[in-house]
Amino acid sequence: MDETVVEKKKVVLSGIQPSGNQFTLGNYIGAIRNWALMQDSFDCIYMVANEHSITVRQEPAKLRENTYRAIASLLAAGIDPKKSILFVQSHVPAHAELAWILDCYTMFGELTRMTQFKDKSAKNADNINAGLFTYPTLMAADILIYQSDLVPVGADQKQHVEIARDIAGRFNGIYGNTFVLPEPYIPAMGAKIMSLAEPEKKMSKSDPNENAKILVMDKPEDIMRKFRRAVTDSYGEVRRGEDKPGLNNLITIYSVATGKTPEQVEAEFEGKGYGDFKTACGEAVVEMLRPFREQVETLMKNKDYLDQVAKEGAEQAERIAMRTLRKVQKKVGFLPRP
Ligand code: TRP
Repeated sequence: MDETVVEKKKVVLSGIQPSGNQFTLGNYIGAIRNWALMQDSFDCIYMVANEHSITVRQEPAKLRENTYRAIASLLAAGIDPKKSILFVQSHVPAHAELAWILDCYTMFGELTRMTQFKDKSAKNADNINAGLFTYPTLMAADILIYQSDLVPVGADQKQHVEIARDIAGRFNGIYGNTFVLPEPYIPAMGAKIMSLAEPEKKMSKSDPNENAKILVMDKPEDIMRKFRRAVTDSYGEVRRGEDKPGLNNLITIYSVATGKTPEQVEAEFEGKGYGDFKTACGEAVVEMLRPFREQVETLMKNKDYLDQVAKEGAEQAERIAMRTLRKVQKKVGFLPRP
């Protein structure tokens, strides 16, 4: 096809950290499943952000295993390496090189105001390292190096996309048009899955309460138990409502797992109690995750295949990344590499 008449697809980039040994239902519904759904409409680039993970201390053997598990999970969620670029951040050194340059165009005060930095330094008071502080410039490099238009992220990462955009705008202002200005892309459906125990809070991998989170590799009986214990309210009606965070969350989960609209879910459980509804939620989630879990298990037994996917992904990513990096180096006045 003649490229000049084909409208170029928008570039989508996102990343997920391989820390924590597996993803939650929230990561699955809110992030990686949507990434798979975007593959036909956009040029998608998906990355396992292992460099971001070491801002918090990791056990090396576990980080390696979790990186494989993250690749396997992205594949099992439907990301197709023939359609999208799937790679591991540290395999493309251009990100870290660009991050250094961007550090020099990012203000101390800007980084100090980032909510994630404030939260994480409060939680890891014994390890407030410089990487935790400059985390946003590495993330900006991840995004800007691919000239990304859209960055699908959870609400908690929106501020990071905004700072990437600010940094890009500042750089473009000094050196002329260099970077595409990225926008956060918050998927409409299932953007935020909440804790089953405290439904005002996001479902988090690091929540110490096992009953608060569904992990994608949980056994069916554990999933059923966690749903049975999920916090609801005293209204006793399967309906959404402003003061019904527990029900809002369960209805979202059930509708994503079954493909029904929230209205259909409310109609289906009209006159039925929370017990029936929670059981149905558990069963629907077990069924949704079953093929995913089986595929992750199969892929984890085939590390050679995972290595091959990562290798091919890194090669494709690097070609694009190097174009941006060279352009930036030239603009700031670095001599071309001899
Ligand atoms: N910081 C993101 C998170 O913890 C992961 C990430 C790293 C990312 N680089 C990115 C997300 C670039 C989007 C774009 O969830």
